[in-house]
Amino acid sequence: TFVVKAGEVKAPIQSTMWGVFFEDINFGADGGIYAELVKNRSFEFSKPMMGWTIQRKEFKEGDVLVLNRQQTNTANPRFIRVTATNAEKGSLSLTNEGFRGIGIKKDLRYDFSVMYRQQTPGVKLNVELINAKGDVIGSTVVNPEASASDWKKATVSFLATATEPNGKFRISFEGNGVIDLDMISLFPEDTWKGRPGGMRADMIQMLADMKPGFIRFPGGCIVEGFDLSQRYQWKKTIGPVEERQLSINRWNFEFAHRPAPDYFQTFGLGFFEYFQLAEDIGAEPLPILNCGMSCQFNTAEVVPLDQLGPYVQDALDLIEFANGDVNSTWGKKRAELGHPAPFNLKMLGVGNENWGPQYVERLKIFTKAIKEKYPDIKIVNSSGTDPNGDRFDYLNTSLRSMKADIIDEHYYRRPEWFLQNAKRYDQYDRNGSKVFAGEYAAQSDKTVSVNNRNNWLTALSEAAFMTGLERNADVVFMASYAPLFAHAEGWQWTPDLIWVDNLNVIGSANYQVQKLYSINKGTHVVPMLLKNEAIAGQDSLYASASLDKNTNDIILKVVNASGKEQQSEITLEGVKKLAGKATLYQLSSEELDKVNTLGNPPSIAPVEKQLSLKGKKMKLSLAPYSFSVVRVKM
Ligand code: AHR
Repeated sequence: TFVVKAGEVKAPIQSTMWGVFFEDINFGADGGIYAELVKNRSFEFSKPMMGWTIQRKEFKEGDVLVLNRQQTNTANPRFIRVTATNAEKGSLSLTNEGFRGIGIKKDLRYDFSVMYRQQTPGVKLNVELINAKGDVIGSTVVNPEASASDWKKATVSFLATATEPNGKFRISFEGNGVIDLDMISLFPEDTWKGRPGGMRADMIQMLADMKPGFIRFPGGCIVEGFDLSQRYQWKKTIGPVEERQLSINRWNFEFAHRPAPDYFQTFGLGFFEYFQLAEDIGAEPLPILNCGMSCQFNTAEVVPLDQLGPYVQDALDLIEFANGDVNSTWGKKRAELGHPAPFNLKMLGVGNENWGPQYVERLKIFTKAIKEKYPDIKIVNSSGTDPNGDRFDYLNTSLRSMKADIIDEHYYRRPEWFLQNAKRYDQYDRNGSKVFAGEYAAQSDKTVSVNNRNNWLTALSEAAFMTGLERNADVVFMASYAPLFAHAEGWQWTPDLIWVDNLNVIGSANYQVQKLYSINKGTHVVPMLLKNEAIAGQDSLYASASLDKNTNDIILKVVNASGKEQQSEITLEGVKKLAGKATLYQLSSEELDKVNTLGNPPSIAPVEKQLSLKGKKMKLSLAPYSFSVVRVKM
């Protein structure tokens, strides 16, 4: 018999408790939520024609050349020069393969744009969508009119005539002349909120559906870079997209034997868009900045302490960019980008998975500067990847003695670890730094393995662990699963919360768990006990309870991690009266290896059932290997 002491209201649950952690890994941004369909649109990848192929009927020297204007344009130096000589349609064309193909939807509008420059008009551009068989399934024509030495932009929209998961995009040149081209771009009409040049709506909707309390961005390891020159620099990610300087992606290497030589960050999705996204989905923004150290799993390049100034300035300027008055330097830039109102930034992170005394001494400099100017901004500190190791102990002791606001802990561990650690925070210091469980995911095989799967066992063990996070909401202020997205043909890391291909999206079993927690968050913790103890493993049961003072519900979360059905009786104490009704949302599968797969309805999805109460008691049947959320009406 479980007892819920609904009258003993404990800690408030932070509005930020359950959030999402976004990183451009697994083609999460370029080729993912950033809806651009053309890969290497500005020819800035390390191989300038990567993603493109040239088709020509006969070889003509110099018909497509890559040129470089580095002296005048450092952010976007390359462009192509196309020379057409009596070209007929199909005799000279350029095909783009997209990011692992292009998803094309019948009857959807596609918006093409290109920057061009030409001395004399004469080259016509036949713009075409191509299916896997090579047939044209949508086309239009662009006649670049302007003749000038300045760059102009041409735009045109057209409809696709068929659906194709693995299409291509082609420009076939016709006529005579010489034309320079750059920023060759194609977006679908159905972006999130219909914003031109925006985000893939079906992916963002999955986030919005979770009602996340925060969104952390832009990573992860990409914040750090292989070396400091490749670190994420937010100032290079705002303003006109053609002026955002591309960078190699930190996941562009043979990680877990999954090479991704074509993985770059175009920053079409930059910090303004991240803030806007946070606002759209009602999540607090949590940007993470480089602390003056590159990724320690590789090179551990550190900036000398006396040269840390620009890094710290980036943090101060970011706060001004997010919150500053429109008359301030960076607040003005935000207003110019279309958002005069502040984004109301309340926290930011310094460093990701950095460790050692080098991290601590850099962090101290950041903290002093930020707190002096913005005492109300909370700083998230990183405590690395090994929740049980010496490195973690060193950092945790150092950060706690610095009175860190929030410490970011990461755990990529086997499901057993998650079950065993449901009590991890029960004995934590209640008065010290708060915890951000910033990256976690149960690994069905082992950390960093191509065999990891988002199976039901991993999701169930996370659900059990999360009862411990919720029970300790006075210590744990935030939590997020990681990584968030993965493209089925372009991933580097498994498991991942949401899987996509060019046309479809599926929430994993783990997504279902995260979503149930997030949309059933509650406002305050109340004790839920078995024989007067927190329920954290007895008879393979894990549970927590909360009150939702907004809806007047008592919310119960119970995991049955055993293979046998368990009948529980729940007594709700400390409430004057109950409405007699409750709703159960249950996830379960006796097949622990079951996964939700793309293109199919989710096989792990909540089943909803109405329950009734007798007075202050209710019976709850806990299916084998199940996670149940019950909302009891007061
Ligand atoms: O989530 C994948 C990676 O795991 C993140 O980039 C990094 O922070 C962690 O090591």
